[in-house]
Amino acid sequence: MDRGTAAKRIKELHNLLNQYNYEYYVLDNPSVPDAEYDRLMNELIEIEQKFPDLVVPESPTQRVGGEALSAFEKVEHESPMLSLANAFSEADLRDFDRRVRQAIGEHYAYVCELKIDGLAVSLRYEDGLFVMGSTRGDGMVGENITANLKTIRSIPLRLNENLNFEVRGEAYMPRKSFEQLNKMRAQKGEMLFANPRNAAAGSLRQLDPRIAASRHLDIFLYGIGEAGTLDISTHSESLELLSRLGLKVNKEWKKCLNINEVIEYVSSWTERRSSLDYDIDGIVIKVDSLKQQEQLGRTAKSPRWAIAYKFPAEEVVTKLTNIELSVGRTGVVTPTAILEPVQVAGTTVQRASLHNEDLIREKDIMIGDWVVVKKAGDIIPEVVNVLTERRTGEETVFHMPAQCPECGSDLVRLEGEVALRCINPKCPAHIRESLIHFVSRNAMNIEGLGEKVIGQLFLRGLVKDAADLYFLEKEELLKLERMGEKSVNNLLEAIEKSKSNSLEKLLFGLGIRHVGEKAAKILSEHYGTMDQLMKATDEELQSIPEIGEKMSDSIVTYFDNEEVKQLIDELKAAGVNMVYRGPRQAAQSNVESVFAGKTIVLTGKLEKLTRGEAKKKIEMLGGNVTGSVSRKTDLVIAGEDAGSKLAKAQELGIDIWDEEKFLEQLEH
Ligand code: IVH
Repeated sequence: MDRGTAAKRIKELHNLLNQYNYEYYVLDNPSVPDAEYDRLMNELIEIEQKFPDLVVPESPTQRVGGEALSAFEKVEHESPMLSLANAFSEADLRDFDRRVRQAIGEHYAYVCELKIDGLAVSLRYEDGLFVMGSTRGDGMVGENITANLKTIRSIPLRLNENLNFEVRGEAYMPRKSFEQLNKMRAQKGEMLFANPRNAAAGSLRQLDPRIAASRHLDIFLYGIGEAGTLDISTHSESLELLSRLGLKVNKEWKKCLNINEVIEYVSSWTERRSSLDYDIDGIVIKVDSLKQQEQLGRTAKSPRWAIAYKFPAEEVVTKLTNIELSVGRTGVVTPTAILEPVQVAGTTVQRASLHNEDLIREKDIMIGDWVVVKKAGDIIPEVVNVLTERRTGEETVFHMPAQCPECGSDLVRLEGEVALRCINPKCPAHIRESLIHFVSRNAMNIEGLGEKVIGQLFLRGLVKDAADLYFLEKEELLKLERMGEKSVNNLLEAIEKSKSNSLEKLLFGLGIRHVGEKAAKILSEHYGTMDQLMKATDEELQSIPEIGEKMSDSIVTYFDNEEVKQLIDELKAAGVNMVYRGPRQAAQSNVESVFAGKTIVLTGKLEKLTRGEAKKKIEMLGGNVTGSVSRKTDLVIAGEDAGSKLAKAQELGIDIWDEEKFLEQLEH
């Protein structure tokens, strides 16, 4: 094939593939079988491989490509991306209508649209080509997520007209994609997304576009950033224009001539929302005329010509079949309602925390009751109330036990607390939950070690504390349920990788009472190494502004415990990093430190620093200081009167520095 023929065929293939893509992803009405699309796509890939200079950015082959980014660039929006004021009732909608009428008189129309529950994005087209897409950010400045947005197949890379404009809409994850994604994550023992919106946001925040591509996101466009020279005078015309250009507009929008029609639209969708393939969290009502929109103007945050009606949290009725108890990592025993599975706000709910016995009494909950369930903040399932009129007499009263359901030791109610606790430190539930916490994302972040795998490891006696995780053998792991060669290798790799985490992750993972993620970071930054922190006194700890008495007490008591000391020693022996590797260190050394990863021995008397100070500095820079010289030693720093250690280092041919060179390298 010569160049001219290739160029011509590429053009034909672009047109065909774009057309088929549009029919499939925007119109949801494909005209050719998938195999035909794939055949043409393969042909295009082949020609482009032979003539790489004919590859253009809008080629259908360019949706997923490029390297992972190291960070997103900031993008300033040409006009601010405003948010909307909310309405929660019919009365709020009528108030909004009154304000509109007062400002513009009686001749007007509204457009009602579904409020898609995803995240707002802006797409910029130049000469009809998709050139940049960004998040809303704070409304003024967002992040450039072009590569991720290109993976959304309903976003045309080229419009039907060569326009320059910015269009806005909502990127979202269809319910089906969400369910598939969470199913896969559950199999891999990864954290589940709470809802499709979080999953969509999480996907678009990925620096590697291949991840976003695998998440099957979609988009609805609902407005033009700045109409400028476009020949439109109403919002409904702009929606029609967007559709004509090949952009995906939600087809349920409706022009309403008065507020009663709006209210009817709202109540009809309140009923029907669960029938959609995607989540909506309300209805957006907009004044149709652009001139009237201008007349109405805006407040600092939102336009006066539009309002978002938010649906009340969806409530459903189901049967509470049992109350189970679970013991958390701090020993708190929590009753959980087991429910007959129901769909609430887009996901299946089958459990809801009942928190404590007082709450069960307050809500008069019995086992066997019909209950109303909703998701608080549309995320966490909650039992709202009991339908006492549906009781049959078969229901049974629930009592909290006096003993721990896992280890049988007496439960206690600590002063000022509602919760009942198991205070037996050897309780298997404590240990199992502590392990789950230890491997969780914000702690040691060991992917592939979900609750199920931990549960099995624990039951088989393979793991009794966090250090045991680092001594797991491949053969043992292969014996676990649903663990094949590949997942075992991945898991072992994740465990290995976690050894080099910065100190704060380990510290948080240990689950010391009152030491959350933030405190773990502050302590790690302050002390630099685990050894230094372990030596800290109450007084010293409290001199750190963010550390109070309760926390310092808890830290000192924790590290005073012999079993804890043993655990830390075992973790050290396993090669788990005990040094802070965060920003403070980076500030001190912009270049990779020469001490990082090295085993170093200090000997003789240093003039400018004490031995302890030198050790701390080396550890802060990622080095490991040991007491005696061996073949494993990388470097010896020798002060005045260095004796046998220096001699041994010379004998073994180990690198030796004097104090001057050491100080010089610290400056770097
Ligand atoms: S119009 C100035 N229409 O809801 C008007 N917004 O606070 C801008 N949203 O984050 C918004 N569906 O991303 C509009 N059909 C729709 C929408 C919609 C969802 C989101 C939007 C924004 C929030 C409004």
